[in-house]
Amino acid sequence: MIFQRGALRGEIAVPGDKSISHRALFIAASTQAKVRVQNLNPGRDLDATIGALSSIGASAKRDGPDAEVQGGRLHAPEAPVNCLNSGTTARLIMGTCAGAGLHARLQGDESLSSRPMEPVAAQLRAFGSRVTTSGGALPLEIAGQLPAQTRHFILLSASAQIKSALLLAGVYSGTPVTLERCGGSRDHTERLLKSWNADIVFDADRVAMRSAHIEPRDTRIPGDLSAAAFFLVAAVVTPGSRLTIRDVGINPSRSGLLDALLQMGARIEIGNRREWDCEPVADLSAEFSALRGITIDSSLTVRAIDEIVILSVAAAVAQGQTRIAGISDLRGKESDRVAAIEQMLRSAGVATESDTNAIWITGGIPNAAGASVQTGGDHRTAMAAAALGALCGPLEIDDAACIDVSFPGFVPQWAAAQNADRTIAELR
Ligand code: S3P
Repeated sequence: MIFQRGALRGEIAVPGDKSISHRALFIAASTQAKVRVQNLNPGRDLDATIGALSSIGASAKRDGPDAEVQGGRLHAPEAPVNCLNSGTTARLIMGTCAGAGLHARLQGDESLSSRPMEPVAAQLRAFGSRVTTSGGALPLEIAGQLPAQTRHFILLSASAQIKSALLLAGVYSGTPVTLERCGGSRDHTERLLKSWNADIVFDADRVAMRSAHIEPRDTRIPGDLSAAAFFLVAAVVTPGSRLTIRDVGINPSRSGLLDALLQMGARIEIGNRREWDCEPVADLSAEFSALRGITIDSSLTVRAIDEIVILSVAAAVAQGQTRIAGISDLRGKESDRVAAIEQMLRSAGVATESDTNAIWITGGIPNAAGASVQTGGDHRTAMAAAALGALCGPLEIDDAACIDVSFPGFVPQWAAAQNADRTIAELR
């Protein structure tokens, strides 16, 4: 697949937030309430969650852009649960099985099978579960056990997936849970529990779920800032661009990319702010801007953890050097994203350097014409390459199919935004 050079213009909407979509299904499936989840993320990762929930006896079905979900008589899955490429599915079904007292075997694709599961396993063992991993990864086996009293955890890493697995274990077992040292990771689970009347208080570092009783009701998922990110950065770096993205989630625990781009000098407007089910939402407008390099510390990186690859494209044209710290976790995502950034930017002639915890990118005038990017099967690298291609392509990627993990329909939507000013006659 080849991404062409060219400005992005017009007004678009992006798919529903992937993180919130997983949570809405997992939490709703813990009760007998029938819940409609509007604007569920259409990607393959959500298919993994729908499959996982169905295999334990809950009912979760897509219905156009929405989903209907309802708990049921939960039972141990008969066959191993296939989590496909989805780390969130794997970690959250672990929390679910831990709380519901289910015995399950989990597996995933090659990429997921190389990702760390031991940090979640270790904390769920403290909850009373027996978890056996394969050298710290999938395939694994979990046997949940119902704990009786309040559980207090100190998180071993600033991971929203671990935090959410423990909260789900509490929800499914009816156990109050308190968590410390959350490290500012995304708080969608907490917000959704609050919107569904759980007795929960939280800040960036602590969560106290004082009662696990919830009353789920229909909910609407905001557009995914992690998906909007590719369009936003492409608009900011590509001359002639001006783009508006409607109804995007701007939860502060996720909006590090916006803060970083604004600090770099990007002309981004955040308008029409409102709230959907405890999640802040806005319309974002971006246009071509001259950028300067900045230093991004680890507290900002946590709030942009899935946007570092696309942020590196902005750094590639920013005047001076950009340093991004706190990147060690990026090596354990869908691919080694530090290696992916370096390969992608170097193919466009951009100088990068990295050590275990930081990367330095020296901005300039990238030229990716004729370059080719290895996605490593990672959807976010594939879409970041589209933005680099818009700026200085044409640029080829080896695999566009991986984009379906989070954003089926990305390629035609991208082409439409690049051709927004052309008439149908011109395109023929
Ligand atoms: C996610 C949390 C993040 C992120 C991942 C989705 C989630 O990982 O990288 O893509 O939905 O909870 P951490 O668990 O490392 O925070």
